[in-house]
Amino acid sequence: MKIFIIGITGGVGGQVARKLREQGDDVAGLVRREEQKGELAEFGAVGHVGDLTNGSARALADMIGDAETIVFSAGAGGGSREAIAAIDRDGVIKAIEAAHLAKVQRFVLVSVFPEAWRDRFEGDGFEYYIRMKKQADVALSRSGLDWVILRPAALQDYSGRGTIALGPAEIHEQVSREDVATTLAAVVHETGISRQILELNAGDTPVSEAIRAAVRDTTRAGEDSRGS
Ligand SMILES: NC(=O)c1ccc[n+]([C@@H]2O[C@H](COP(=O)([O-])OP(=O)(O)OC[C@H]3O[C@@H](n4cnc5c(N)ncnc54)[C@H](OP(=O)(O)O)[C@@H]3O)[C@@H](O)[C@H]2O)c1
Repeated sequence: MKIFIIGITGGVGGQVARKLREQGDDVAGLVRREEQKGELAEFGAVGHVGDLTNGSARALADMIGDAETIVFSAGAGGGSREAIAAIDRDGVIKAIEAAHLAKVQRFVLVSVFPEAWRDRFEGDGFEYYIRMKKQADVALSRSGLDWVILRPAALQDYSGRGTIALGPAEIHEQVSREDVATTLAAVVHETGISRQILELNAGDTPVSEAIRAAVRDTTRAGEDSRGS
């Protein structure tokens, strides 16, 4: 499968890219600096130089080309309000527009738990970030695309466990970036997961099992609507 990653040089995005390459996928993504292309080429991924904040949706669509799936894992990472709005909300909206232009249906977005870290009273800037992430979720859920919104708990850099807790509502604690990347690499291919919001925390279920359990049983949904 051809996959285009926005945020491919990030903590999560970089690991997703490597895992997808290991699975045999074609991987490309948006990079902000020319030298990052070489870093991606080392593991067989392709970088296209651009910037979410000042490039057009058309230019992004041209980079996306004939990819079949977009993974959006970019983020302003605690920057200014302007940067948060431009990347975490408007960047997603631009990428949705680019997906339509490039005729890509599947779009997997890395978002955040809406209740993340409320107990820590992180301040107005953090609240603003949460609002922008939620507005991006709303835009994607109304996009008409084959979307998936993955909301990981607080990201950590320790090694993945290969086990997770994944479902429409999970407890917000923490999870390793590696386990998030493993989950994303599986979600990309599991087209039975569609138009769903999934929350992701550390847990004890092997990723493959958690992914299988998250597939919507449309057969049963049909039976339910017929009242059987
Ligand atoms: N931190 C947490 O605890 C937490 C919890 C839940 C969800 N999340 C979300 O998880 C996602 C991944 O997090 P992460 O830790 O992997 O992020 P990260 O390491 O900070 O990576 C951010 C990525 O976004 C790219 N980016 C930033 N501004 C850009 C722009 N203007 N144009 C194009 N690309 C741009 C960065 O590119 P450069 O390499 O050029 O900077 C980088 O590839 C983010 O959406 C974040 O909001 C985070």
